[in-house]
Amino acid sequence: MLVETINNRKTGGATESTVLGPFHMIESPRRELGESIDFVGTGTPCVVTGRVLSADGAPLPGAELDVWQANDQGFYDVQQPGVQPRANGRGLFTADADGAFWFRTVVPSHYPIPTDGPVGTLLDGTKRHPYRPAHIHFIVAAPGHRALTTHIFVSGSPYIESDAVFAVKKSLIKEFTSVDDPEQAARYGLDGPFCVANFDIVLQPDAEN
Ligand SMILES: [Fe+2]
Repeated sequence: MLVETINNRKTGGATESTVLGPFHMIESPRRELGESIDFVGTGTPCVVTGRVLSADGAPLPGAELDVWQANDQGFYDVQQPGVQPRANGRGLFTADADGAFWFRTVVPSHYPIPTDGPVGTLLDGTKRHPYRPAHIHFIVAAPGHRALTTHIFVSGSPYIESDAVFAVKKSLIKEFTSVDDPEQAARYGLDGPFCVANFDIVLQPDAEN
């Protein structure tokens, strides 16, 4: 996280970055806007919406968003082969002509980082817990702009004030608001209460690097 912070000191008004983490997969499956990245069906349904913009506020049509997350039990697909379908919780999306994106998922859970190696010894030695607050990972890219690696964090998640890897930035904490409105649910192909999180993403033009 220190290296990440040193490398991304100047945001120029762009959305803040945070760590890539060890659970990114190449390649995530390409999915259409509005599709779900959850293939298990447990957990609270959730819709994530937003727009990808340049620093001057202009939308970035066709921006690419690579998203990945743990499930409602706090595990990534790659940690549970045979339990979660391959590429559960992952998707590659292309923003529309207005730079807008939206996809369905479930609200992720907080989770412990693995403690069976030197990291566990380090945490023991520093008397720190291994938990990360609930989050969804993003890599966002558009032509002429610096690619952004970041997360959104679920507001109110346990450990939001004490992330084991120090990756929380206040601007990345988002409300996951409960919605109990059949009309809104139907708009997203859902049939019950769900949460909605909005995340507008501002990318830094290459020229400012
Ligand atoms: Fe993660």
